[in-house]
Amino acid sequence: MSLPKAELHLHIEGTLEPELAFELAARNGVELPYADTDTLRKAYRFEDLQSFLNLYYELMAVLRTERDFEDLANAYLARAAAQGVRHAEIFFDPQAHLARGVEMGTVVEGLGRALEHSQAVHGVSTQLIMCFLRDESAESALETLEAAKPYLDRIVGVGLDSAEVGHPPAKFREVYEAAAAMGLRRVAHAGEEGPPEYIVEALDVLGVERIDHGLRCMESPTLVERLVRDRVPLTLCPLSNVRLRTVDVLGDHPLPAMLDAGLMCTVNSDDPAYFGGYAGDNFEAVRVALGLGEEQLRELARNSFLASFLEHDEGLRARYLAEVDAYEF
Ligand code: ADE
Ligand code: ZN
Repeated sequence: MSLPKAELHLHIEGTLEPELAFELAARNGVELPYADTDTLRKAYRFEDLQSFLNLYYELMAVLRTERDFEDLANAYLARAAAQGVRHAEIFFDPQAHLARGVEMGTVVEGLGRALEHSQAVHGVSTQLIMCFLRDESAESALETLEAAKPYLDRIVGVGLDSAEVGHPPAKFREVYEAAAAMGLRRVAHAGEEGPPEYIVEALDVLGVERIDHGLRCMESPTLVERLVRDRVPLTLCPLSNVRLRTVDVLGDHPLPAMLDAGLMCTVNSDDPAYFGGYAGDNFEAVRVALGLGEEQLRELARNSFLASFLEHDEGLRARYLAEVDAYEF
């Protein structure tokens, strides 16, 4: 669906399509344990978040040079632009690269090469959000923030991702305080597989401005009331929820109930190469499966720009919102 939208929940490593994975593997002399792209695609059957993360981290082995990260980002931006994305706030996972001997500078400079020309080449404005892996230690997160210091002019904020259950947000209090002191914006995955209490903790302890996923807030009426009152944006990823089995089928997704409750929902793709669709595909899928009408779709698109970190250019935000209002379905 080409409705203009901002993508606020997108892991750049999750945009690695099998074809590009094999191309980079050949370029870098990396052996992949899959015969070809078809065999690899067949591995895209997940039981839960962890079974996906295992493959997600395994395939990162092909990402080694600045050019690899540049090619990865350019491929995503071209696909996103074709699906109506006008602005993208892009997550990356530096610890997963540092652990393989790929430096912070390689990742940020490589992504930066694609991002700096994105507005001109793809018509997409961009920001970068650096995520900490919550199944790694708090010390490792602090070291990662330290390693990012030379690149802070290119990083708008910090996030928290990877295996959620057993890794509550409070573990990262110190690093989020340090990030806030550096002027970084704060978001965190919470309530994807983890309980509603993790959402509360992300807000109260980490001071986040948006919740990534937040699906399980629906189990706590008091939390829903708070999220509605404070207009806390939720970056939902419907196709991801089905593939990772947090929702059985798309027709059961709570998005319509969440909109009815007054929650500030947005629709995003998470890891589109793995979950069967980019941002526009997610919009189209919820339109069909959940019967969302034009005004609900327009509300989701408006929310995406209202929730985006565009404070440095309110004129741009206003232009994007005007485009949403003028869009003809
Ligand atoms: N890393 C990449 N995708 C993720 C997701 N959906 N949840 C947690 N961590 C992730
Ligand atoms: Zn995610």
